[in-house]
Amino acid sequence: MKAALTLLLAALPALVLADDPAQGPEPRFSSGWRFEQRSGPALYGALCAACHMPDGRGARGAGAYPALQGNPRLAATPYALHMVLNGHRAMPGFGRQLSDEQVAAVLSHVRARFGGMPPETAGVTPAESAEVRKGQQASPAVAH
Ligand code: HEC
Repeated sequence: MKAALTLLLAALPALVLADDPAQGPEPRFSSGWRFEQRSGPALYGALCAACHMPDGRGARGAGAYPALQGNPRLAATPYALHMVLNGHRAMPGFGRQLSDEQVAAVLSHVRARFGGMPPETAGVTPAESAEVRKGQQASPAVAH
């Protein structure tokens, strides 16, 4: 019995990270799930790299995963925060799984590493994340 439980638990991360674009906008994680990672690089590796690729170049296959590398939309802070918190179409939202500190850490990392933004402006604060979370931002929309 204990061995079976251990096996089941060992298989859980694979289930959670399994990428099935056909799954649509269903929540991919239970609301009780919280990620332990705290640093931007660790969070990126655990949560984003599977779709956007470790080098941020995105991918095209069963679905289209936009490149974050050189993506000018990363500079639109409310938009980028909105994507991470709420998701959009095939992009899952992480608002329920991440604290504002974690959201700020991963987005600051992505903007500095892939967005070509200097460290002074790449930083996103937990307060900015909290604002978007509460829906207080003017508009998450970005010019297409
Ligand atoms: C399950 C795959 C998947 C994961 C995991 C994922 N994304 Fe995405 N992401 C997408 C897709 C698909 C889109 C395009 C969504 C759309 O159609 O608007 C996207 C869009 C984005 C955009 C907007 C890009 C643009 O040009 O408009 C940002 C920013 C982004 N993702 C950041 C992240 C970050 C940061 C993480 C990790 C916390 C992450 N994504 C995790 C699939 C994913």
